[in-house]
Amino acid sequence: MNKKDKIKLALVCGGRSAEREVSLSGAEGVKEALDRDKYDVTVYDPKSDILRIVADANKIDVAFILLHGKYGEDGTIQGLFDMLDIPYQGSGVLGSALAMDKHLSKVVYRASGIPTPDWITLESSKDINPEEIVRKLGLPLMIKPCTQGSSVGMARVDDASALGDALREAFKWDSRVMAEAFTKGREITAGVIGNRELHALPLVEIIPGEKYDFFDMEAKYKPGATREVCPAEIDEEVAVRARNIGIMAHRALSLRGYSRTDMILTEDGAIKVLETNTIPGMTPTSLFPQAAAAAGMDFSSLLDRLIELALETDNTDA
Ligand SMILES: Nc1ncnc2c1ncn2[C@@H]1O[C@H](COP(=O)(O)OP(=O)(O)O)[C@@H](O)[C@H]1O
Ligand SMILES: [Mg+2]
Repeated sequence: MNKKDKIKLALVCGGRSAEREVSLSGAEGVKEALDRDKYDVTVYDPKSDILRIVADANKIDVAFILLHGKYGEDGTIQGLFDMLDIPYQGSGVLGSALAMDKHLSKVVYRASGIPTPDWITLESSKDINPEEIVRKLGLPLMIKPCTQGSSVGMARVDDASALGDALREAFKWDSRVMAEAFTKGREITAGVIGNRELHALPLVEIIPGEKYDFFDMEAKYKPGATREVCPAEIDEEVAVRARNIGIMAHRALSLRGYSRTDMILTEDGAIKVLETNTIPGMTPTSLFPQAAAAAGMDFSSLLDRLIELALETDNTDA
């Protein structure tokens, strides 16, 4: 393919969220894996390059948005690309904004019959009664900012006396914070790929090392801290149910292209959804690429597929 036939791809990475570094390190691998015979790649960092994106708009065929968190995964940059008429991989404005908000996602899960742990959402501007939270949800609790990823600002609270500190930390990251009933069980994640027709990938089981009391930031990113098993070694009946729940969550939140839904499988076989990621981690060893590999799609083919889905002409909903 000569240069003029190549797809002009904008690799969008970096950004302004707490997950900037995660994005930049993911982008290294993506850049390397993108097939140079197919794509002419230009890198843009929204932290400094928004005007350059706008100026270059008519020279961009498709964007690969590899941003996490605020101004990346929350619909804002997706809105910019919509306005510039540039297709991009993954979810649009509505789905991205909904999935980024853990509280609203759970409202939608509940309304769609998708099981999710009980929770209470707290606002920094209102009075908070810690005793009432513990009385309603019990212990342990997970405290999380409503709109962060990578376990940023999160804590597990086993003792009521630690609740105040956990809330103060979480409120540093967001004016809305969730207290969620801690759900004991095996942690699994379900990748989904497709547009009209959705395909659920093999599940990954996440087993953080013993020193971690949940899948926190260190457990997520420190090499060797967590064991990941793919396909997850669970009963086929449960796996089918979990993959279906992944598809249900994707549909309920109006997502597009791909997503990855985190869930807990309890001892008595119940599945509870924690959240859905619209731009899951994208290093070659991240959870979604691992699941794709187990389905026979190597990292480069996965990127090709996501770009193909972005360019599909009927890709106008959500
Ligand atoms: N209600 C819960 N019960 C048990 N573990 C939880 C719960 N909520 C979160 N966790 C743990 O915290 C991790 C991060 O939470 P999650 O809601 O997936 O947020 P994010 O991945 O966006 O930071 C999960 O992977 C899980 O290990
Ligand atoms: Mg998660």
